[in-house]
Amino acid sequence: MRNGKTDSSSTMVKDQRIFEKGTHKMNDTLKSSWNAFPKSIAQRYLKSFGHPSQDSQLVLYEVLEKLGPKPMRLVDLGCGNGNLGEYLTEKGLAFTYTGVDFSDVLLDAAREAFPSGNFVCDDVNTLTNLHESFDVACYSHVIEMLPSPESSLRAASRIAKKIVIRFFEPPAEREDWVELLDMDIGSTHKVPYLRRKMSLDYYRLILSKIDCKQVDIYRSTSKDQIHVLHFS
Ligand SMILES: C[S@@+](CC[C@H](N)C(=O)[O-])C[C@H]1O[C@@H](n2cnc3c(N)ncnc32)[C@H](O)[C@@H]1O
Repeated sequence: MRNGKTDSSSTMVKDQRIFEKGTHKMNDTLKSSWNAFPKSIAQRYLKSFGHPSQDSQLVLYEVLEKLGPKPMRLVDLGCGNGNLGEYLTEKGLAFTYTGVDFSDVLLDAAREAFPSGNFVCDDVNTLTNLHESFDVACYSHVIEMLPSPESSLRAASRIAKKIVIRFFEPPAEREDWVELLDMDIGSTHKVPYLRRKMSLDYYRLILSKIDCKQVDIYRSTSKDQIHVLHFS
C-alpha cells in the first residue's frame, strides 16, 4: 500500500472516517446538547421535568450529613440547575456549595434558583477552572454521562478529600457499555447524549489507578446507589 491507496498486490484499504485528529469533537457535541435546553425547561430540569429518584436523593443527603466536617465544603460536579444544592439547603445540611457544569443555560438557571451558591463553568472531565479544595466532591447522576469517568475522578481526587457518587447505573455488569442516545430537551428536536454502564472490573481499575483506599456503598429503594470513595 502506498499513500493510503491499494496496489494490485494488496486488498488493504486505509479508512480514516471513524476518527481523525482535530475533527473528532465528541465533547463539543455533548456540551452543545447540554446547552440546548430552552430556558424554561432548564429551570425545571429534574425538578418537574425529568425523573430523579427522590429516595436516593434523601439517601445522598443522609450520607453527606453523616460524613462531616461541618460546615462541609461541597463541590457538585455536573450540578445542572443547582437542584441538589437547593435540596440540601432545604434539608438543613451545614455546607458551602460550589456547583460546576459546562452548560451555560443550566448554570444560569442554577444562579437564579440558588443565588447563595457559587457556580463555575468547567468541564468535569478535566476541572481546569477550579482552583479551590473541598471536603467532598459529589457526582449526582453524572458519571454515567461522561466520556472519561477515569480522568474526571482523577481530577476530582486532586481537589477533594472524599468523592461521593450517586449512580443511576451502579457498576454491576460484566461488560462496559457506552452509547449515544437521544435526549428529550422539551424542544422540537432531540439531542445526543452519552450513557454508560460500567463494569465492576473497569470501576475497580479506575479506583486503584486513583489510589482509592475504600468504598462504602449505600443502597436506596430504587436501583440507585450512593458510593463514598475514601483516599486515606
Ligand atoms: C443528569 S444531569 C444531573 C444534574 C444534577 N447533578 C442533578 O442531579 O440534578 C447531568 C449534568 O451533567 C452535566 N455534564 C455532563 N457532562 C459534563 C461535563 N463533561 N462537564 C460538566 N458538566 C457535565 C450536564 O450539563 C448536566 O447538568
